[in-house]
Amino acid sequence: MPVIDVHTHFFPRSWPDLEARYGTKDWPSIRHTEPGKAEVLVGDRVFRHIDSACWDPEVRLAHMDRDGVDFQVVSATPVLFAYERDARDALDCARLFNDACLELTSRGRGRLLPLCQVPLQDVDMACEELSRAMRSGHLGVEIGNHVGTKNLDDEGILTFLQHAASEDAAVFVHPWDMMAAERTAKYMMGWTVGMPAETQLSIAVLILSGGFDRLPRSLRIGFAHGGGSFAFLLGRLENAWMRQPKARGAAEHPPSHYLDRFLVDSAVFDERALLFLVEVLGEDRIVLGSDYPFPLGEERAGSLIRESRFPPTLQEKLLGANAESFVGLSKHAARPNGILRP
Ligand code: CO
Repeated sequence: MPVIDVHTHFFPRSWPDLEARYGTKDWPSIRHTEPGKAEVLVGDRVFRHIDSACWDPEVRLAHMDRDGVDFQVVSATPVLFAYERDARDALDCARLFNDACLELTSRGRGRLLPLCQVPLQDVDMACEELSRAMRSGHLGVEIGNHVGTKNLDDEGILTFLQHAASEDAAVFVHPWDMMAAERTAKYMMGWTVGMPAETQLSIAVLILSGGFDRLPRSLRIGFAHGGGSFAFLLGRLENAWMRQPKARGAAEHPPSHYLDRFLVDSAVFDERALLFLVEVLGEDRIVLGSDYPFPLGEERAGSLIRESRFPPTLQEKLLGANAESFVGLSKHAARPNGILRP
């Protein structure tokens, strides 16, 4: 059974000067500081220090061998989404980085599986780019969990999710542009507190809006970081749904009815949280996700699952079996321009 890490990120080694390309400020850029090291800047501000694991497939493959990971699903880093930009610029940006992702993953000896990004602020352009990316070898799409004030229950985003289902594309929802920025400015709380808060909100919204009632069951959708605290909030959501008509939204069923409609990754860093996720969501609903190669990711991908008290059969599900159907590995294995088994 292959081990599949569904939550990893990349940056290309270099990319065009986006400020010059679009004539607007504060686009991400990369500055190499020493061999194998670089900084990603947003405008003049250093956003993140990164290393060659972001862009060098050989470094990634060596780490995968070290950690016993057969496949990585490779997504853009949300700072590149550009949802707040002019949609035409965001579309061009998505094309640049989607092609860069294909270029990187094509050098991964069949073990790096690309997910694209789309200009989600424009549903037509987003659908068009997803179709183009799927034709060119992507297995699905990573989306941010909101577009400004629009949540996942936005009509345009629901239309996009419908399109993703019709394209047979996996959808990985990643938090970004975190809420309460002023109050989480210190101590990296945007990452530790803001990101999970975004994700649990997104799952709740998709349920309560009736989104899952309208979307086809064939939609394969997963959420980062264990779904935030969604599993822990489920009782509260359920209680409100039962007792307060307003809290029901448009959901045809109570929230617990929808737990088989989505996956979450295992990036929770605590065995008790992982046990709780399995207990609440079920053993088919959790997939290995490490957030490789970033500093808040799991240092050895899969170690939380492997060192857990779960029996080997359940560990296999979490490490790869559940993700195999999520990413559609078997369907894509035979594609001439796609993904080949190692
Ligand atoms: Co991530």
